[in-house]
Amino acid sequence: MDDRLNDLLRRMTLEEKVAQLLQLAAPFFRGAEDEGQITGPLEGLGLAEAHVRNSGSVLGLTGAAQVIAVQDAHLKSNRLGIPLLVMADIVHGYRTIFPVPLGIGCSWDLAGAEESARIAAKEAAAAGVHVTFAPMVDLVRDPRWGRVMESTGEDPYLNAEFARAFVRGFQGQDLARETDRVAACVKHFAAYGAAEAGRDYNTVDLSERQLREFYLPGYKAALDEGCEMVMTAFNTVDGIPATGNRRLMRKLLREEWGFDGVLISDWGALKELIPHGVAADEAEAARLAIQAGVDIEMMTSCYVHHLKALIEAGEVEERLVDEAVLRILRLKEKLGLFDNPYRGADPEREREVVYSDAHRRASRELAAKSCVLLKNEGGLLPLAREQRVALIGPFARSGDILGPWSWLGSRDDAVRLHDGMAARAADPGRIAVADGCGVDEAATEAQLREAMDAARDADVIVLALGERSEMSGEAGSRADIRLPQAQLDLVARLKALGKPMAAVLFNGRPLDLHGVADQADAVLEAWFPGSEGGAAVADLLYGAARPSGRLTMSFPYAVGQVPVYYNAYNTGRPKDAPDAQVRYVSQYLDIPNEPLYPFGYGLGYTSFAYGEAKLSAAEMSAETPLAVTVQVTNEGDAPGEEVVQLYVRDLAGEVVRPVKELKAFRKISLEPGETAQVTFELTEPQLRYYHADCTHASDAGAFLAYVGPNSRDAVGLAFRLIK
Ligand code: IFM
Repeated sequence: MDDRLNDLLRRMTLEEKVAQLLQLAAPFFRGAEDEGQITGPLEGLGLAEAHVRNSGSVLGLTGAAQVIAVQDAHLKSNRLGIPLLVMADIVHGYRTIFPVPLGIGCSWDLAGAEESARIAAKEAAAAGVHVTFAPMVDLVRDPRWGRVMESTGEDPYLNAEFARAFVRGFQGQDLARETDRVAACVKHFAAYGAAEAGRDYNTVDLSERQLREFYLPGYKAALDEGCEMVMTAFNTVDGIPATGNRRLMRKLLREEWGFDGVLISDWGALKELIPHGVAADEAEAARLAIQAGVDIEMMTSCYVHHLKALIEAGEVEERLVDEAVLRILRLKEKLGLFDNPYRGADPEREREVVYSDAHRRASRELAAKSCVLLKNEGGLLPLAREQRVALIGPFARSGDILGPWSWLGSRDDAVRLHDGMAARAADPGRIAVADGCGVDEAATEAQLREAMDAARDADVIVLALGERSEMSGEAGSRADIRLPQAQLDLVARLKALGKPMAAVLFNGRPLDLHGVADQADAVLEAWFPGSEGGAAVADLLYGAARPSGRLTMSFPYAVGQVPVYYNAYNTGRPKDAPDAQVRYVSQYLDIPNEPLYPFGYGLGYTSFAYGEAKLSAAEMSAETPLAVTVQVTNEGDAPGEEVVQLYVRDLAGEVVRPVKELKAFRKISLEPGETAQVTFELTEPQLRYYHADCTHASDAGAFLAYVGPNSRDAVGLAFRLIK
């Protein structure tokens, strides 16, 4: 294959090679009828017609007819007939929108995650897309950051498992043969999720150990699964912006991990080396990025304007450009574009597969699994179909339940909560509905009156609350992560009626739930559940489906705790130590240390009893793994799902170790009265960690194995690792 590509490379002029590294948004191309998806600044790039004619890829373009038209025009104008790569953000669905990835994470359902990516790929590929800018696998600890909704959460092991599942779903086995799949691009390399104070694009400053232990496993897992591309992060990593960071990109990604696929900058990130303060001008930015190993420059023009001169001046080796071009050509070859530049784009197939009934059913199912029941006092949920319900809140009839990064999803078509509930209730007339207030606009007199009228005759109030999708996602950081005051006021007004209240939350981040969790009898976190969201939530509310989601990101008690995450270090003065003092311990004076709802937590419509966990031995070694067994019984009178979780604590390492680390989990389904025996095998590699010199090894000594329903309530058993 490389002979053909090398030959092509030899026939390209330097200008053509450099332009191959340029990625432009859809509006730049002849044949594009609409603006496509614009996800960053569109400033004047000072491009000539030749740059566009020779550019190698386009982003945010879709629609089979449109892609075919653009590709056609491009092939006619490109001297060597090199096809364009079509890339887009197909993050949690194409037209059929699935829950946001944080919700998918909370399903703990890897097969469901894979299926969601397979469906997204199938729709996107029929619409002409070749590469998706997903999965986003950034580990997240700070809910102020708007992009936590794009991640699967705060745990490196779980994130890695989801990264693999998404890559499998997007890419399948063989991209050339399976034209209903798309290449995946894991992002944002690296540690974008650790932005200081949760402010988007902000500085990231981590030790190499933190980076390797918590932040890198997700990206590495995606690449181990064969992910074709990597996107750079906007942030700095140890003082150097990722996009110009040779240590990160050349040394770690390419040399240490052996990644030889395409590395793309984020939108504008290459030129942002200037405001970051590591490049004096565009020429220097171009030099730093190409030397770091960035192949494609997204939406700035430093490469096309400066690489040729830098090469001629001897400041950049032409070899670097050749290598980058070859990597891009290889991806085109792998996708079969030299044989069929239109690949999966097919208007008829597009009509057939996009938003099909089967895809919507899959979305509804995954949405139900993604919701997390946080509270259910007195068994308020599920509702009886005959109950008179007042459904009140700005999300009762809202189609804004798809969440950020759902470009082609239609809010108009999304199943709203009211519609979903009306379809489930014995009589739709038993559901009185009112907005109560705006998402962040105080209630008008008329809205309040309508809400109170709705509530008056109801047996139960269902509150539909949340954040507009623009309140999270890229550039969607918030410093105050409570629900907007208008909604808190509404909750307080309705609480005064003394009726049972269940709150359903539509949002993109763990919230500070004061004013909601302490007021409502039941709380169901629905995230942004996607196209079928209202139907899925109604299924849960009426018991047609059972809540089985478990949090993969802690819900803080208050924003002052942030970042708060389960796999933290103990400190030298832990609050709960047997000899703890009243004052001189690691604590807040005004709030608890613990989050309101911890990692792994979630309720169902039944309850599970854990028997005493047992270890196969008191010691394990590299040759003799440990079996950890527990019996779990469904003690209630409804069937239910439980996520049985295994955590480990290394009691004395060379460097401090987290108080708990998730090592395995099993999602089981039990009928009332049924008992299951769950056995985990714990092996020596699972006990390895990054030492002070960043070697990855385990230490002999004492450990605790915890088995339980969440990171807080798991019970610890002692064992030793023998070497
Ligand atoms: O893929 C995205 C990235 O996650 C954020 N900036 C824009 C890119 C392309 O849309």
